[in-house]
Order: sequence, then C-alpha cells, then structure tokens
Amino acid sequence: MPTRSCQTAVGDIEGASITTIEGVSGKIGETVQAVWAEFDVPQCGYCQSGQIMSAVALLTETRKPTDDDIDSAMSGNLCRCATYHRIRAAIHETANRLET
Ligand code: FES
Repeated sequence: MPTRSCQTAVGDIEGASITTIEGVSGKIGETVQAVWAEFDVPQCGYCQSGQIMSAVALLTETRKPTDDDIDSAMSGNLCRCATYHRIRAAIHETANRLET
C-alpha cells in the first residue's frame, strides 16, 4: 500500500514491513523501473519515487489497468514537470511486458 512518508508518523508504523524506492524488486518492480528509464519518464525526478511506488502497487493489484485505473491510482502524486502522459504510457507498457 503506497503511503506518503511525509504524512506518516513513525509511531503509526511500528512493527510494519516497509519498502522504500531503494527496496523495490521483483518482476513488477524491476519492469517498472526498466520501462521508466526507457521512456525517459523523469524530468527533474523529485516526484518519481512516489510515482514508481504507486505504479508498482497498481500493477500488483491490477495487471491490465485502464486509463481510469491509472488516473485513480496515481492521483495523489503531483508532478510539477507534468510527466503524466509518460507515466501513463510507461504503466501501460509495463503491463504489456508483464503479460508476456
Ligand atoms: S519529474 Fe519533476 S516533479 Fe515530477
């Protein structure tokens, strides 16, 4: 479950298992990161950790997300560089690669 670290008190997650961007792994995580790089998704990069964590969570739950699924899952992640079209394309491409 993607969670904003800036809005989460340490006391609320005591004993929980936490994965940060550095710990993203497995087929979905690695495919997302590879496609992100191929599609040159990041611009300044500031928002990208959150974008990737949300994309991995979405693709873990929904293997073939629609545009509406993507917009809903990614809606809390603002990108001041407006990389939304590349993010959406990268998520669709990741979904396609995970199918094969
Ligand atoms: S890449 Fe710059 S804020 Fe998203």
